[in-house]
Amino acid sequence: MLFPKHILLVFLFPFALFSQEVNKRQQLKLNQFGVYDTDLLPASFHKNNREKLRAYMPKNSVAVFFSSPIKNRSNDVDFQYHQDPNFYYLTGLRESNAILIILKTPQKINGEMTKEILFVQPKDKSKEVWTGTRIGTMGAELVLEIETAFSNKEFNEIDFNFEEFDHIFHAPIPQDIKDDPFDKADLNNLCLQFGAKLSKTDENKINKSKLSEWLSAMREIKSEEEIILMRKAIDITCEAQIELIKALEPNMTEYQSEAIVEYIFKSNGAEYPGFPSIMGSGRNSCILHYSTNRKTMMGNNLLVSDVGAEYHGYTADVTRTLPVDGHFSNEEKIIYNIVLKAQEAGIKKCEEGNSFWDPNVAATTVVSQELQKLGIIKSPIEVRKYFMHGTSHYLGLDVHDVGTYLPLKANSVITVEPGIYIPAGSPCDKKWWNIGVRIEDDVLITEGDPEVLSDCIPKTTEEIEILMQQTSIFNKK
Ligand code: GLY
Ligand code: MN
Repeated sequence: MLFPKHILLVFLFPFALFSQEVNKRQQLKLNQFGVYDTDLLPASFHKNNREKLRAYMPKNSVAVFFSSPIKNRSNDVDFQYHQDPNFYYLTGLRESNAILIILKTPQKINGEMTKEILFVQPKDKSKEVWTGTRIGTMGAELVLEIETAFSNKEFNEIDFNFEEFDHIFHAPIPQDIKDDPFDKADLNNLCLQFGAKLSKTDENKINKSKLSEWLSAMREIKSEEEIILMRKAIDITCEAQIELIKALEPNMTEYQSEAIVEYIFKSNGAEYPGFPSIMGSGRNSCILHYSTNRKTMMGNNLLVSDVGAEYHGYTADVTRTLPVDGHFSNEEKIIYNIVLKAQEAGIKKCEEGNSFWDPNVAATTVVSQELQKLGIIKSPIEVRKYFMHGTSHYLGLDVHDVGTYLPLKANSVITVEPGIYIPAGSPCDKKWWNIGVRIEDDVLITEGDPEVLSDCIPKTTEEIEILMQQTSIFNKK
């Protein structure tokens, strides 16, 4: 809806900028739009991202993005909502049933010149009493600072003609959309309406891949504001891992270790884990993305704890491997120290300008050489039998974040996470069986030395054994 924004700004934030007291009042006003956190990314961040995208777009072009659908869990219960990272990056909106249109240059839409339109769920008391306060069109313009916001109910009727553009870039149409039969402007309908509008357009003008390419390049480089949130997510994760190291003891279940970590996440303001927490003990330490977390841990088990808090969209991803009874056996120590040596070699390669794959090559070389020395493998090619994943991925709004995979750039964040996994039945001496070790840290690429953002968690076997002797707030004793 178009309205004189500056008048409303004066009405909503009459004392802005004058005092602390005023900030509280501002916050109270923001509550009306369902915004409660005080340290969210500023609207200027998202606005700047829209500007950067425009710089990639050619003349007379338009870009269209869709919010994530609401995902059904079962029957009439949905999963907790999570916004599509690209949509969030460009808008800051955390609601579904929305479409974003970005224009290269301003156009007249419904009588007003504008270069961006966000279609959002309109305010609706009867719906909000069930699922919470909506930001509405007014909030989209005032809080998110989107130039023009309309109700999603207006998408179909709006005077907007895709045929007039030389290039139409659009994000993938979301799949598995739940159709709300009582809402004629839910994401399902919006996508159908978009499809119908597009069907009148020359196919050669439509491009479905460029947006993700541009957004990947943009999201790879983190702004100062993003790095603050990433540090926060990682610090919370450090605190959680440290508490688990102190609390871990035989007969604890994997889900209890998960509960400890996620308690620390939530109690520090992290919205949720950035991915299902991996708590694999004993034989499960050799399952890379184990997340069942139901086994009771035995004293002679190793526990791979691979977790990450998500704070205002940004996730950490840190792994420690712990001896459940507080002491690494000789064999566990040998394998652990190889993984640690491999990780140190990988981190050294995290320098601006190096190939994205250099940390992987360095870590894999160490693992390969050391496993050959132990007679666990006979030739370098066999290394992938026990180290079957890459060493690094980008980190950000997604745990496996998007990026270019071109040479490493300053202000990007990657993980370095070598591992060795020797399941029972492997063709080597039985003494190595069921040893699974992964060590993972989050590394900020800088113009100088890499900064290990998660180095607040002990990592050597000696440091871990010492910390395990401390009592945790979660120990019953
Ligand atoms: N933390 C899980 C992974 O990186 O695959
Ligand atoms: Mn990872």
